Amino acid sequence: MTNVTVHRHRTAMVRHTLSQPMSLAVRHGMVRPGVTVFDYGCGQGDDLRALAAAGVEAVGWDPHFAPEAPRHEGEIVNLGFVLNVIEDPVERADALKGAWALATRVLIVSVMIVGAVPVDGLRQFGDGYVTARGTFQKYFQQAELKAMLTLTSGIEPVALAPGIFALFRSPEDEQDFLLDRRRGCRASTSAYRANRPARAAVARPQLADRIASAVDAIANFALERGRLPHPDEMEPGLHDLLAAERVSFARAIEASRDDGIDAGLFAQAATERREDLLVHQALNILNRSRTAARPSPAIVRDIRHHFGSQQQFGEQALEYLHALADPQRTVIAMRRAAASGLGALDEDERLVIDSKRVSELEGVLRCYVGCALYLSGDIEQEHLVRLDPLRRRTTLFPLAGRRQPFPETNISITIDLKRQDFVVRTDSRVLVRKADVFGMARRSRQRSLEEQHRITNGNGEVKVLVRT
Ligand SMILES: C[S@@+](CC[C@H](N)C(=O)[O-])C[C@H]1O[C@@H](n2cnc3c(N)ncnc32)[C@H](O)[C@@H]1O
Repeated sequence: MTNVTVHRHRTAMVRHTLSQPMSLAVRHGMVRPGVTVFDYGCGQGDDLRALAAAGVEAVGWDPHFAPEAPRHEGEIVNLGFVLNVIEDPVERADALKGAWALATRVLIVSVMIVGAVPVDGLRQFGDGYVTARGTFQKYFQQAELKAMLTLTSGIEPVALAPGIFALFRSPEDEQDFLLDRRRGCRASTSAYRANRPARAAVARPQLADRIASAVDAIANFALERGRLPHPDEMEPGLHDLLAAERVSFARAIEASRDDGIDAGLFAQAATERREDLLVHQALNILNRSRTAARPSPAIVRDIRHHFGSQQQFGEQALEYLHALADPQRTVIAMRRAAASGLGALDEDERLVIDSKRVSELEGVLRCYVGCALYLSGDIEQEHLVRLDPLRRRTTLFPLAGRRQPFPETNISITIDLKRQDFVVRTDSRVLVRKADVFGMARRSRQRSLEEQHRITNGNGEVKVLVRT
């Protein structure tokens, strides 16, 4: 290995919002006011500022930015994108051991993963690469990180996202987390904003701080559409700011990539946007939409970016339609939705779901609901949706009595996808209650949790995954 000076601290970015691991910890309720947090390798400290702004007691240490700060215990310890910047494997292992020793309840570890960033042209160094800025990056395989965490802690980690794991000291904490996640419980992160110190306190404002509102606008666009914007997709005010600061649009994009856009969230946004576009196009084809041939310039750019060409996009959308034609695939997707707590399977294996949660379904099921709504029209009021792919029917139950604690209905709208027609029924003998569906969902979640106890591995042996 040739001699290279690695500047690890240069990897620490300015953040205006929480990092992905901290954001996940907040959304899953692990980090909240009343819980102590220690950020091991806290970089410039923006996560700490954002946590403090939301009333969470959080401190951190960093060998470059906060070398004098004491290394404290914390109920939750974050080791965020640190292991991947350390070029020495022994020191890397020490950092992990050090962070784990301080975590009294949960250690959250995040790294860059293989494939997150192109490495063409980067110089190989040890088991990673050095960049033009003199930083080191190791890109982990998910399984490699998992093995490293298991080896150090003796505990099997729980995957939160690609490259992000949590190690729970107590099985009870892990179970609480798993149950809440399956139920789809998510807390909001909106109170967590990094209020950076006033400009005067900083000797020379960094570019990202000088054009902070432009960086925010570019980051918001990128995280919504999973791609970077073209100049004409941004408000004129942004161009005025850049002109006043004498910064080109390309430079602003670069600053956003370095300091404003979290790579993990960006990749996730791209995946979601791709699926949204496919569902949209599949429904366009199915419904013979008259406007499908005239997408807006922004959508054309999305398609080109995410699929390469209109033709490839069309072909993939057709695959979605084939999935619709195969009820078994839909049934499997429904079972997955029920197992994750999104809805409930009734005795005939039909999925019943609250209309507010339809957007969280897998693409093939969203297509299914979308086809039905095309025939029936949207229903403004809260309703339940029952999917019955084997009989190619979808039934909507518009709920009355929203102010009451127990919304219910005896009206049903059954859409027959085969006959391309629908029937509205009011039957005073059949009363559908939302509370019953929730009871059903609880029971099917319980069943799926119990099934998690026994997952068969490849050899046909039964492996116990959940500690009780
Ligand atoms: C990519 S930054 C991540 C900073 C912060 N956790 C975040 O997510 O914004 C990596 C940080 O690791 C710090 N670092 C380098 N070697 C370390 C070590 N041995 N132990 C802890 N932190 C280290 C660097 O100083 C740098 O601030």
